[in-house]
Amino acid sequence: MATSSELRSTLLPSRLRGHSAVAAASVLMLLLLAAVAHGAELVELTLLTGAQEKGAVCLDGTPPGYPPAERLWLRNTQLAHLSSDFYNWNKVVLRYCDGASFAGDAEGQDKDGSTLYFRGLRIWDAVVDELMEKGLASAEQALLSGCSAGGLATLLHCNDFHARFPKEVSAKCLPDAGFFLNIEDLSGERHMLSIFNEIVQLQNVREILPKDCLAKKNRTECFFAAELVKSIDAPTLIVNSAYDSWQIQNVLAPTGSYPADSWSSCKADIRNCSPTQSQVLNGFRNKLVDDVEVLTDKKGWGLFIDSCFTHCQTPYNISWNSPASPALGNKTVAEAVGDWYFERSQEVKEIDCEYPCNPTCSSQLPQMHWTGPRILPVYQPSSEFI
Ligand SMILES: *[C@@H]1O[C@H](CO)[C@@H](O)[C@H](O)[C@H]1NC(C)=O
Ligand SMILES: *[C@@H]1O[C@H](CO)[C@@H](O)[C@H](O)[C@H]1NC(C)=O
Ligand SMILES: *[C@@H]1O[C@H](CO)[C@@H](O)[C@H](O)[C@H]1NC(C)=O
Repeated sequence: MATSSELRSTLLPSRLRGHSAVAAASVLMLLLLAAVAHGAELVELTLLTGAQEKGAVCLDGTPPGYPPAERLWLRNTQLAHLSSDFYNWNKVVLRYCDGASFAGDAEGQDKDGSTLYFRGLRIWDAVVDELMEKGLASAEQALLSGCSAGGLATLLHCNDFHARFPKEVSAKCLPDAGFFLNIEDLSGERHMLSIFNEIVQLQNVREILPKDCLAKKNRTECFFAAELVKSIDAPTLIVNSAYDSWQIQNVLAPTGSYPADSWSSCKADIRNCSPTQSQVLNGFRNKLVDDVEVLTDKKGWGLFIDSCFTHCQTPYNISWNSPASPALGNKTVAEAVGDWYFERSQEVKEIDCEYPCNPTCSSQLPQMHWTGPRILPVYQPSSEFI
């Protein structure tokens, strides 16, 4: 069934170095996993030969392409651990150079007057079309995953991904750390909402948003996970910490939302939070738990909502499947995902108790302080914006 080859590709962000950054963003990657029935050799994709004609270009107008080989390799080494369940699957890594979770379709202007292309949606379409032609169409099992901005992208594109396969193919979605909350920050402002508002308008995010949501709410509101999940048809497992470190640092307590240094040490390490601060964090947790409540009855869906202070748990061995992994129901993230994907257990719907109740939460878990290239100059988001 699964082959031992790896199908690798990547959309390059390396040309973007000079630009600054984005939003929702952050990070990183969107991962497409597929068990393809045949075709075992390593396929080097010349991704998107017709990219420019289709308008599927990166922010700076260059076609999506390859990053330097060693970065590609690094990325895949990180994924190499993907536990025995998925180890032999073909993996395609799409790295992201559009700044809006592959959702926008517009043009804008950089400060220096040069054109910026917000063509994420076209990139997604062009990439998936090409992958389908190159063998993805014969996959028997497929999984779309991503973390952070890639987690949001997974939610946004899950229906399209699922719809591209015949019914008998098991095509599922695994969004990790993409459940950005529409909440007030410490100063009472909806900081994330204003960031999403800018992205949605700047990048003309429209077509990708669920029609049933748009009938009731505006585009920005429909860009949040809590709304998106209501319209997803494909079986989906949500992996997200209820104390998502990136969101605590940038959504709940962004710099400027609290006096002086009052939150600095708590934001940096949850173990430093005072009882009062812990209550505020519990408020964040409760909102996330409320938002995923609607999913507990959805057949085929899964939840892995732990209470460890971390962001992105699927891409790193330590959180995915190691002795230091957060465990829920006695399962690591990898075990929970495997059981859910292959339907080995009745239900994988785990919502952890409040921090610090889970003894498996380790302080070694990654928090994703990313200092990489920033993508949208037009934005002046908080400096921690990944
Ligand atoms: C969407 O609604 C929110 C209020 O929930 C508002 O703050 C925001 O400006 C609106 N965005 C757009 C694009 O209309
Ligand atoms: C992942 O972690 C486990 C347990 O610590 C270790 O045995 C394994 O070699 C690691 N895999 C990779 C690819 O680092
Ligand atoms: C938890 O899982 C481990 C192995 O993964 C097993 O040895 C142990 O008995 C399990 N504990 C419980 C309480 O189920």
